[in-house]
Amino acid sequence: MLWIKNAYVIDPAQRLSGINDVLVKDGVIVKSAGSLQPADVLEALEAQRLDDVLQVEGEGKYLFPGLIDVHVHLREPGQEEKEDIRSGSRAAIKGGFTSILAMANTTPIVDNRALTEFVRLQGERAAMARVYPIAAVTKGFLGKELVEMMDILDGGAVAFSDDGKGIQNAEMMRLALEYAKLTGCPIISHCEDDSLAGHGVMRKGEMSARLGLRGIPASAESVMVARDVLLAAETGGKLHIAHVSTKESVQIIREAKKMGVDVTAEVNPHHLIFMDKDVSLTDASYKVNPPLPSAEDQIALLEGLLDGTIDMLATDHAPHTWEEKTRPFAEAPFGINALETVLAAVWQNLVLKGKITPDQVIALWSVNPARRFGLPGGTLRPGSQADLVLFDPEYREMISAETMETKSQNTPFLGQEMQGFPVMTIVGGKIRMAGRKLLDNKEEA
Ligand code: DOR
Ligand code: ZN
Repeated sequence: MLWIKNAYVIDPAQRLSGINDVLVKDGVIVKSAGSLQPADVLEALEAQRLDDVLQVEGEGKYLFPGLIDVHVHLREPGQEEKEDIRSGSRAAIKGGFTSILAMANTTPIVDNRALTEFVRLQGERAAMARVYPIAAVTKGFLGKELVEMMDILDGGAVAFSDDGKGIQNAEMMRLALEYAKLTGCPIISHCEDDSLAGHGVMRKGEMSARLGLRGIPASAESVMVARDVLLAAETGGKLHIAHVSTKESVQIIREAKKMGVDVTAEVNPHHLIFMDKDVSLTDASYKVNPPLPSAEDQIALLEGLLDGTIDMLATDHAPHTWEEKTRPFAEAPFGINALETVLAAVWQNLVLKGKITPDQVIALWSVNPARRFGLPGGTLRPGSQADLVLFDPEYREMISAETMETKSQNTPFLGQEMQGFPVMTIVGGKIRMAGRKLLDNKEEA
């Protein structure tokens, strides 16, 4: 049993934002209420002695429902030199994520029930963050044939996506959304038209011209966003747009929502923090797909996030080896490693700069993802599973291979001291991290 005291509790689902105590028993939240007395605690927990209750002092810290990241690449099976389900889910816990959704672009691709079950089971074995598999939309990501969706859903998938690659064939996407209507399970679209993206490596514009790098025009994304919301309108299927990065995409999603289309969207923090101007030929850690936006696009992304057009934050955690990411910019793979640095990055660059409030961050990264993907969590309401994060806004940490659990270091923050980290992460009442140290096989609270 747990008694977390005097923390600043943020629970947007209950419109709770203030100093409170939270009680946990048998993996479930029992109570979240104003300052409690020992007698209240014993009564609520049906405990005999205070000695049976672990007391955690939360003064000066925030307590919120565990973050849920709907876009993570864990690389297992097949690319374990970059990451595996164990290292990735350990990184998630350090970063404040109690649930992560694993993308299907592994080797082989997760396009059948057996592989879906494998990902789920590896997550359970790691016993850190909850790992939910996302399966491919098309077999082998070839865009030719749909996967066996019903069978895969029975295997534990919570969404379908060919993320890493856009579905080029419009009829294939239409069909996938027809099935999404039947299953009620969202299709996550990686919107990228290959004919427009070509062999581009960064956003097309003045900066790409100056650096002499091939550009990806903004239309490579927004053309497919327009196509997909029209297909979602026609079929009634649930659509979620991954990593929105252009102002046109934001505008199209805004209009689609007004029309009543069942569409949601995510933005990645790196698209809110970095821009095309940050790209340097000598540092491929800024190479990501979709590419870093223009200043104008970035303003539109933040506006979209604040007015509800964009529903959630998601990392697109994309680990790659050191060898791959130290290649020349044009040859390195796309992707930023994010799980362990992203909350501090959002804290420093968005919250402390007054662009977004802590309550909005929790709504966007916990409440809304839980609702859209039908997952437990996202609230501290009594009776909910006890997935919790205690966050210290003052805690500072140097970002290095030694301090991180992930196998890869492809982050622009490497070597920097960052501020604002989780100091305790609890999953289903089990303390998985305390004082920045992971705890294996901890007893249930
Ligand atoms: O930057 C990216 N990396 N974008 C993607 O869509 C895929 C991802 C990866 O798998 O590395
Ligand atoms: Zn991705």
